[in-house]
Amino acid sequence: MDLFEYQARDIFEKHGVPVLAAATATTADEAEKAATTIGGKVVVKAQVKVGGRGKAGGVKLAENPQDAREKAGAILGMDIKGHTVRTVMIAAAAPIEAEYYLSILLDRSNRTFLVMASVSGGMDIEEVAHTAPEKLAKIPVSAVDGISLAKAKEIVAAAAFPADVADQVAQVLLKLWDVFQGEDATLVEVNPLVKTNDGKIIALDGKVTLDENADFRQPDHQSLVDQDAENPLEAAAKEKGLNYVKLDGQVGIIGNGAGLVMSTLDVVAYAGEKHGGVRPANFLDIGGGASAQIMADGLSIILGDADVKSVFVNVFGGITSCDAVASGIVQALELLGSKATKPIVVRLDGNNVVEGRAILAKAAHPLVEQADTMDGAANRAAELAAK
Ligand SMILES: Nc1ncnc2c1ncn2[C@@H]1O[C@H](COP(=O)(O)OP(=O)(O)O)[C@@H](O)[C@H]1O
Ligand SMILES: [Mg+2]
Repeated sequence: MDLFEYQARDIFEKHGVPVLAAATATTADEAEKAATTIGGKVVVKAQVKVGGRGKAGGVKLAENPQDAREKAGAILGMDIKGHTVRTVMIAAAAPIEAEYYLSILLDRSNRTFLVMASVSGGMDIEEVAHTAPEKLAKIPVSAVDGISLAKAKEIVAAAAFPADVADQVAQVLLKLWDVFQGEDATLVEVNPLVKTNDGKIIALDGKVTLDENADFRQPDHQSLVDQDAENPLEAAAKEKGLNYVKLDGQVGIIGNGAGLVMSTLDVVAYAGEKHGGVRPANFLDIGGGASAQIMADGLSIILGDADVKSVFVNVFGGITSCDAVASGIVQALELLGSKATKPIVVRLDGNNVVEGRAILAKAAHPLVEQADTMDGAANRAAELAAK
């Protein structure tokens, strides 16, 4: 889960990373009040989960509370790369002398953590990485040792931070490591980390990505979820422990195994081209032990999607054999009763396929059709969706 800048700022503050006074506002009125409380010059910053807000006009300096009100009025409602600004952060304006870059991230390909650091921070770090990679120091950090003071000093030296800020930057690195480890983050990025004209080091912008696999031990993170942006179907699926992603098509998909579901999306998109361009409506992997309850949960989520016109259940029987899955489908439809309203194309193959198909044939549910092959089933489901 990616956080908004203001959420990252609060987490930074909790772990002792130096940040500026700030408050959020959802109206121009609130922005003016926040600017009054903070006092002096402030910066009005669009809170959207996308980079490059500054260049897009989403970060503006305001001279006084009245000005903050006007700037907030202009930024609220703005569209930045497809994200509508619903909240702004009002932060004290820093007298910037230099802009640096620091990040800690999970380097999956090298199976390690990685720190990136540069004295050429600011809005264009991607550009720096591209055109002057020598200006971006990359230092692996072992998961066992983490960032000690010695390691922090090594990083500061590798990135050639000026001597007058070296100690402060090393301290910030220790605290950022605290954020990274303590909050189970996969990314903690500060761009820019600034030196002010009185020589202080402050994190002016923060980007934090939390590892949702660690949610079980981070109960506080629940409150960071952006309710406005969460898709209600995805939220309902999450509550039921289902691996579901909403897409924008019309054919609901249920399969077992992420690989099979991915290829099901492909064949449906391909078949859909012959039927007016219908597309998959979702990704849903019901996993290995597909019980009747899981099947019912999955079907009810998919049938609750108003965009869905037909459903394709694509199961390859393995440890959970086809007869168990077929019984699951029959029981799921009994559980759903009149809530099941859309045609369902089922393709079973693999372990005990003959028995599985026989169970569905015997049940003869009016909504269920069987297909022999994955392509045939995709084609039929697309055809039904296009009707
Ligand atoms: N509190 C602040 N005081 C002064 N300048 C700021 C402040 N916050 C941001 N800026 C300036 O605006 C630029 C862009 O802001 P930033 O928060 O990094 O947004 P983004 O990375 O999305 O463009 C920064 O590089 C910095 O120069
Ligand atoms: Mg930035």
